[in-house]
Amino acid sequence: MNVHVRHSLAWRVIVPIALTVIATILAVGLLVPRTIAGNATDQAVLVSRDVATQFTTIRQYYTENVVDKVITGGTFKASSDYKGDAKAIPLPVTMIHDLSALLAKQDVVISLYSKFPFPNREDRVLDAFQQEAWDFLIKNPQETYSRSEVRNGRHVVRVAVADTMAVQACVDCHNTTAESPKKDWALGDLRGVLEIVSVIDPQLVHGATLSRSIIIGTILIGLVLTGIAVVATASVTRPIKDLINAMQEVAGGNFEIVFPGLGRRDEIGQLAVAFSHMVSELAAAREREILDQARTAGMQAELARVARLTTMGQMAASIAHEIGQPLSAIVTNSNAGLRWLARTTPDLDKAQACLQRIARDGHRAGDVIGSIRAIFRKGEHEKVPLNVNELIWEVLRLVQAELHDARVSVRTELFDELPDVLANRVQLQLVFRNLFMNAIDAMSTMTDRERVLHVRSEIFEPSGVLVAVTDSGTGIDPKSKDRIFDAFFTTKSHGMGMGLSICRSIVEAHDGHLSASPAHLHGSVFEIVFPAAKLGDDEREIQGMGKQDQG
Ligand SMILES: Nc1ncnc2c1ncn2[C@@H]1O[C@H](COP(=O)(O)OP(=O)(O)OP(=O)(O)O)[C@@H](O)[C@H]1O
Ligand SMILES: [Mg+2]
Repeated sequence: MNVHVRHSLAWRVIVPIALTVIATILAVGLLVPRTIAGNATDQAVLVSRDVATQFTTIRQYYTENVVDKVITGGTFKASSDYKGDAKAIPLPVTMIHDLSALLAKQDVVISLYSKFPFPNREDRVLDAFQQEAWDFLIKNPQETYSRSEVRNGRHVVRVAVADTMAVQACVDCHNTTAESPKKDWALGDLRGVLEIVSVIDPQLVHGATLSRSIIIGTILIGLVLTGIAVVATASVTRPIKDLINAMQEVAGGNFEIVFPGLGRRDEIGQLAVAFSHMVSELAAAREREILDQARTAGMQAELARVARLTTMGQMAASIAHEIGQPLSAIVTNSNAGLRWLARTTPDLDKAQACLQRIARDGHRAGDVIGSIRAIFRKGEHEKVPLNVNELIWEVLRLVQAELHDARVSVRTELFDELPDVLANRVQLQLVFRNLFMNAIDAMSTMTDRERVLHVRSEIFEPSGVLVAVTDSGTGIDPKSKDRIFDAFFTTKSHGMGMGLSICRSIVEAHDGHLSASPAHLHGSVFEIVFPAAKLGDDEREIQGMGKQDQG
């Protein structure tokens, strides 16, 4: 049994991890260089603003504490052209320009410019950034105006801050100095723009290196993570597959299997232990089941044995029952024959008749034994198409003596055109004889009404023969009505209780049906229904034999 790859654990674990790793690498590759470059620029802006603030502070300090006092003293003057003049000190703005020139070597350019330059700087043209910075700062003197750009192949950040008229001394000086191009300065006016230009190439290079390291690091971590996922998943899926194979072996009936992963201390090991327990339980249950089956089989064999014994007992009882009557007749006839012979003048004719009856009864007993054996043995009986009416007459003749002794009159109502039934002659004789004898017994003690044995035959629709044997006797005791067909059930002192049991098994072996019910006024009716013989009844004969064999 194979799991589709898309439903496998490996797919569900490794694919999301690999996708996450790829997404992380892409995000890092896109975002980190930008962020680092942005940071470098922001950092440069901050630094530049600090530098600008420092410069304005220095200049303010210089203006208030140096220039103002020196000029007020009258000995010195402040001038942009101070270098050759022993009585001149640099103007605050000049100091800024000079410092800027000194710092230029350190990749930081500081410049101070104005839309109102002194004559010595009149020819300077402001570039676009400087124009924009001026326009911006004149409206927002507290803010910073900045931009990064590439200048001469180098990345620079330009930061501009306002240089305002911070102290009255500056205002006064500018309004009075002859060189000043504007004479109406007021406190807080934007005098100039202080711009710091710093090169950020080293920071950018550093940032790029950092980005590369981070990306490489992320890729490595991703690869390691994916590798761990692959190994971890394999360490789970492989033993699970082995366990599945082992369970399939178990399903195929192999309980001897040693589960893979039994030595492991992790969950797989526990699973293997649990499976092992389960399989031992299964094996034990299977063993119990086999034992149970054996026990059941033993019980069935025992039952069959008892059934065989019962059948044998039944057969023995049947034989005893059926040959008892001819044997006692033989004894009676022998005694009679002996008496006829013992006379002073032996009556040979009578003795001969007795001997003939003895021979007849002897044959009959032999026939009975043969047919009873046939009931219980396979293939030892023969069924032929028989006319039931003729059979009834035959048996009535057989029991004539008993009918006469019991003073029973016979009434027949036999349908002339009965179809034949496929039957064993002796067995059917047995059936009718038993029914007639029972009827005679039932009427033998009765004195208050006529003793009548009524035998009727007719066609049983659609294709059968019905024989009803009715007596005017005592009737069946309602308490015993469910048991009269049981073997050995009898209410008679001389009875064996086998007659009806034998009748029913014979009738059923002929695919017929035997039932008992109370007669109209007194007595009882026993009804037999046989299927009529027709084409194909040979098959039924074979089936009938099979049934007897089972019984
Ligand atoms: N025609 C009948 N009328 C009333 N009861 C009957 C009749 N036929 C059978 N029985 C009852 O059914 C019982 C069983 O009958 P069955 O023929 O099997 O045995 P039995 O006649 O008692 O003994 P035997 O084995 O000698 O035939 C009888 O003892 C009797 O009580
Ligand atoms: Mg009987």
